[in-house]
Amino acid sequence: MSADFTGAVVLITGAARGQGRSHALAFAERGATVIALDACADIATVPYPLATSDDLAQTAHLIERAGGMCRTVRADVRNGDALRAAVTGILAEHGRLDVCVANAGIAGFGPVCELTDAQWATMLDVNLTGVFHTLRAAAPPMKEAGSGRIITIASMGGRAGTPNLGHYAAAKWGVIGLTKTLALELAGSGVTANVVCPGTVDTPMVHNPAMYGLFAPDIEDPTREDVAPRYRRLNPMAEAWTAPEDVTAAVLYLASPAARHVSGITLEIGAGVSARMQ
Ligand SMILES: NC(=O)c1ccc[n+]([C@@H]2O[C@H](COP(=O)([O-])OP(=O)(O)OC[C@H]3O[C@@H](n4cnc5c(N)ncnc54)[C@H](O)[C@@H]3O)[C@@H](O)[C@H]2O)c1
Repeated sequence: MSADFTGAVVLITGAARGQGRSHALAFAERGATVIALDACADIATVPYPLATSDDLAQTAHLIERAGGMCRTVRADVRNGDALRAAVTGILAEHGRLDVCVANAGIAGFGPVCELTDAQWATMLDVNLTGVFHTLRAAAPPMKEAGSGRIITIASMGGRAGTPNLGHYAAAKWGVIGLTKTLALELAGSGVTANVVCPGTVDTPMVHNPAMYGLFAPDIEDPTREDVAPRYRRLNPMAEAWTAPEDVTAAVLYLASPAARHVSGITLEIGAGVSARMQ
């Protein structure tokens, strides 16, 4: 995707690693100033480590090494005031906010009837309320400016039921409803709002012992090589997982001038799983 984002200011949540880092690098390489936001802290109900402040610094380092511009913000999307403060800071320093990618998220596992209150509440708090906080902070200055691109990251898990991920699926379906509603509320303002639904992506969210144990309960200490064929079976296109850059391409498209009349869609990067859905 060759769109030029010179002069644009882009806020990306969950940018310390994984897909968020890939989006951040891609925008910066195309001339944008990137505000990379991440909590950089573990969460008790999440069964794998989240990003660290070193990860966030590494995102900034990679951007600067590529000749791009990056500011880092350490904030938790569960804190609405922190998101408002982050956007206020962006406007004070840069005078504009052109693109917002609400990407921060967590995963966790368990059958619906075995989820604890804490697992449920934390999942909804980060993966749905966190997106709400991000959009509520970012959309008003875009509307006032008469232009802007809002992109939320849901999941193919937000397009169908997914055993052991009921709380995750509920939050991601919620992100789709929230984003489509915002798209209508902003229609005619010059601001678009769209959802990207990745399938399985090659990031730390899927490469950890907790997730491997879900896919290979019969193997002691399963490895990446052990689980790859099992992940692959999920996808008609026989990919075990897609690259973060595959999702970035969709994000860049939705942020580009070519997508100016695209709003309220869910763009699925699901390695063929979409063909099984209505
Ligand atoms: N990896 C996949 O297979 C997959 C599939 C579909 C959708 N997604 C979604 O893509 C997005 C990015 O995930 P990823 O694959 O890069 O995983 P990841 O775990 O590598 O990255 C998630 C990032 O979000 C940050 N984060 C988590 N909770 C936060 C909070 N409360 N406040 C601020 N930052 C927080 C983490 O520190 C981390 O840097 C998530 O919304 C995820 O649900 C992932």
